[in-house]
Amino acid sequence: MPSPANRRTKWRLDDDEPTYVRRNTHRRSLPAEDAFDATDGLVEGDRWSTWDQSTAGERGPRPHPSWLVTQLAAADTELGILKTGKEADVFLVRRAVPRTGPSCLLAAKRYRAAEHRLFHRDSEYLEGRRVRKSRDTRAMANRTAAGREMIASQWANAEFTALCQFYISGLAVPYPVQVLGTELLIEFIGEQDGSAAPRLAETGVRGAELTGLWDQLVHLLVGMAQLGLAHGDLSAYNLLLHRGRLVMIDTPQVVDVIANPRGADFLDRDAANVSRWFVAHGLGQARPGPDELPGLLHAEARLP
Ligand SMILES: Nc1ncnc2c1ncn2[C@@H]1O[C@H](COP(=O)(O)OP(=O)(O)OP(=O)(O)O)[C@@H](O)[C@H]1O
Ligand SMILES: [Mg+2]
Repeated sequence: MPSPANRRTKWRLDDDEPTYVRRNTHRRSLPAEDAFDATDGLVEGDRWSTWDQSTAGERGPRPHPSWLVTQLAAADTELGILKTGKEADVFLVRRAVPRTGPSCLLAAKRYRAAEHRLFHRDSEYLEGRRVRKSRDTRAMANRTAAGREMIASQWANAEFTALCQFYISGLAVPYPVQVLGTELLIEFIGEQDGSAAPRLAETGVRGAELTGLWDQLVHLLVGMAQLGLAHGDLSAYNLLLHRGRLVMIDTPQVVDVIANPRGADFLDRDAANVSRWFVAHGLGQARPGPDELPGLLHAEARLP
């Protein structure tokens, strides 16, 4: 039961008004975020919005969408887990000004820095990566705790950067809200009640509906190719279907198809993976068809 001791007042440094928070023991909790140390005065498990801790470069492109809560008096409440993975876990978070204030749902993707984390792409990806301080390079190479944390942050940053690029180009990706250390916050794709949009692979779409989705997919792939990029891990599991709209997620390993000597292979592999799924599920006549897709993408990316 709430007691007076549990009801505390907190003055934020940058806020004139005190924020009152009531304890609610039924809510689920955010895991401890020692790095942020931002839970003072909030109900157990919540944290203050981390918005003001990200620098301008760690926040999503402007103008910020109108649904996004940027108030410093907002708090983050974890509502549950969307998916656990080998390399990261994705949580549903509500960011809201306590009591009557505005509110929005976010997906929080937290990259693992733990020793048992298996990121099969680490070594390949890190090979070409220049890190300014050689001490950091050594820490990463030796997989010390600090090095692992750095690698996880790099993945979060790489995913954030790619999402920003795609979003600015008008491609269908979740709005990238912010990145802070190993945590990436993005627009939640789903309903206001917290039910997430299904992955394309889990939907029952067949026949005519597939053709419309195929057109959306071609638009996405062509848009990326024009930027000189390939997703690098595209499949029907990294495409969400929300109210008839295909939304691409999971972009940490985006590949520069010109700079990477195997760029064309990545482009072809992405195209082949999704084409296979569409054909297996009954894609009929389509223009361009799956066979024409690789040629089109090479041309759009200006590959020789
Ligand atoms: N913005 C979002 N809105 C709704 N659900 C999401 C969002 N981002 C991720 N998810 C859910 O979380 C799952 C995992 O996300 P993502 O693919 O980015 O992480 P991952 O660790 O690479 O997972 P995997 O290894 O399964 O590909 C997605 O398949 C999707 O179901
Ligand atoms: Mg994925």
